[in-house]
Order: sequence, then structure tokens, then C-alpha cells
Amino acid sequence: MTISLGYGAYAERRTHGPGLHHSQRQGAQSQCGACTVLIDGRSAKSCTVFAAQADGSEVTTIEGLAKDGRLHPLQEGFWEEHGLQCGYCTPGMIMSAVNLLNDNPTPTERQIREGIAGNFCRCTGYQHIVNAIQSAAHKR
Ligand code: FES
Repeated sequence: MTISLGYGAYAERRTHGPGLHHSQRQGAQSQCGACTVLIDGRSAKSCTVFAAQADGSEVTTIEGLAKDGRLHPLQEGFWEEHGLQCGYCTPGMIMSAVNLLNDNPTPTERQIREGIAGNFCRCTGYQHIVNAIQSAAHKR
């Protein structure tokens, strides 16, 4: 879902909107990255963004990536490369990866690992996540 509205309304929608899966307030300590969204196209941990900072901005959550019923290449990559287990980290991981691939369409493995350094995964050991991002980079 891509929305453009003041952050107060955004926060209300993200916690109560139907079909929203990830952007709920996790810990508000900027540690896990699970709440990462795109604000005007740049990844940001939404738990650390004040309402005034995002007022009038376009906020994109994981729900906004699929277009016309087709998954985003990163969503496909995570599916095909088994880049998740419990899925807790996955939306934030993908949103950080969107930012990464927008900045660098052909990242090295090291650059991918640096690009997702702010997102913690407690399940996968990261290799499948790196593979998923590499897969998406090759598809773009
Ligand atoms: S898949 Fe469980 S935390 Fe990443």
C-alpha cells in the first residue's frame, strides 16, 4: 500500500488498517528493523519517525510493493530462495532491500549484508536472505 498523508493518520492506519501485516509498533527502539517502511522512497524505521517528520510524505509499506497482482522481485526472491522462516523480520528486510537495490542495482554480497545491517533476523542465518536479494537483483 502506498499512502500519502500526515503521520498521525498513517500511524492510525498502520496499526488498525485491514490487511496490514508488519508496520505495527514493535519496540520503538530502532533495534530490529521489522517496522522499516519507505518514506518518500527511502527506507526508514518507522518506530523512530515523529509524526511531524513524515507529515505530507508518501509512505510505502510492504503491502504497496506488489503491483497488479504480481509480487515485487524481492518478494519473489524471498519466496523462491527461502529467505524467511517465522517471517517477523521479512517485511522490514524487504523494504531495506528495496532501498539498497534502488541505490545499487548490482550489489556484492558484502554490500547486501551492509545494506541490511539494521535489520535483525533470528531465524535464517542471513544466507538465504542474501540469496533472495541477489536473485531479485538479477531479475531487475
Ligand atoms: S525469519 Fe524469523 S526473524 Fe527473520
